[in-house]
Amino acid sequence: MARKRIITPELTPDDQGGEPSVRPEHLSDYLGQPELVERLRVSLEATKDRGGALDHVLLHGPPGLGKTTLGRIIANELGTTPHATSGPVLMQPKDLVGMLLKLQAGDVLFIDEIHRLPAPVEEFLYSAMEDFHVDVTIDSGLHATTESFKLQPFTLVGATTRAGSLTSALRSRFGLVHHMTLYDHEGLQAILEGAAARLKLNATAEALAELAGKSRGTPRIAIRLLRRTDDWSRARGSGSIDLEAAKACLELWGIDDAGTDELDRRYLMTLAETYRGGPAGVEAMAATIGEDARTLEDLVEPFLLQEGMVARTRSGRRLTDAGARHIGWTPPDAQSLFGEDD
Ligand SMILES: Nc1ncnc2c1ncn2[C@@H]1O[C@H](COP(=O)(O)OP(=O)(O)OP(=O)(O)O)[C@@H](O)[C@H]1O
Ligand SMILES: [Mg+2]
Repeated sequence: MARKRIITPELTPDDQGGEPSVRPEHLSDYLGQPELVERLRVSLEATKDRGGALDHVLLHGPPGLGKTTLGRIIANELGTTPHATSGPVLMQPKDLVGMLLKLQAGDVLFIDEIHRLPAPVEEFLYSAMEDFHVDVTIDSGLHATTESFKLQPFTLVGATTRAGSLTSALRSRFGLVHHMTLYDHEGLQAILEGAAARLKLNATAEALAELAGKSRGTPRIAIRLLRRTDDWSRARGSGSIDLEAAKACLELWGIDDAGTDELDRRYLMTLAETYRGGPAGVEAMAATIGEDARTLEDLVEPFLLQEGMVARTRSGRRLTDAGARHIGWTPPDAQSLFGEDD
């Protein structure tokens, strides 16, 4: 099990506490994804003009980038009610029927972790999405009958961190598919400014810039670092969020200048020292480090890959020159780590 990391992009109980107060409610407050916002704005306006429901929307990308937030914003912008559920909760088609029948015209049904829908539930969803009707089997065996129900036109907003696990049949039923990418520095800084204002925190621009730079492109991490910096400034600092507080908070939580934390560095050290720079398989790495492979794949590797400290090759993970430099490791033969078979 992963120990507590302040830079995990996953939702932790810590985040939930004050979450509603920082979650934007309208598209105009959704910052830093200009293309996505513009595409949605166009479709939302067209839907209002045309009448009926907005086309189904699929959002995929790493955790903490604002998929759930966007699902709620879409409902708000349409002036309809959001209904939320998630893939693992819907075990059988009947778990979904009640929800679908309750939907009013134009409502938004948000399904989180949509890649985890069991196949029968997914197949059940096809006709609901396409023709707004469902066939429900009543009873079983000899007495089984099928009844057809008409649904109100609705919008399904699906969210997933694993687009690769989605069947193409399901994927093709979404009219708007958007891959969310990590935010840039300006986007994160704007989000932090908005969050600081909402939380009524006094923060300097340079402090927010410092935090934005260490947030791994992820709003959830940025907001968490902001809260922890507020803690530090109240307990040890001037009471407002200044550069000193931001730096002290990052140091307290073991985040270095490159934005890596203790687990990232351990990953890099293991790859260097135990596997001599690699290639190493993720399962082997996980066993050596004492973490599970999924944690490494979802919560450690994306950032290290993005920063070019690690490379994924056919034969496994390899440390790059940048990764080796970061931990101050010199390969035994002092050659570049990349050669031969890649
Ligand atoms: N574009 C944005 N503008 C302002 N705040 C944002 C934005 N995106 C995300 N946030 C904030 O970041 C936090 C995480 O967002 P959210 O819960 O929507 O992420 P998610 O993509 O659904 O994550 P997961 O995959 O873990 O479900 C929320 O507190 C939200 O307020
Ligand atoms: Mg979410």
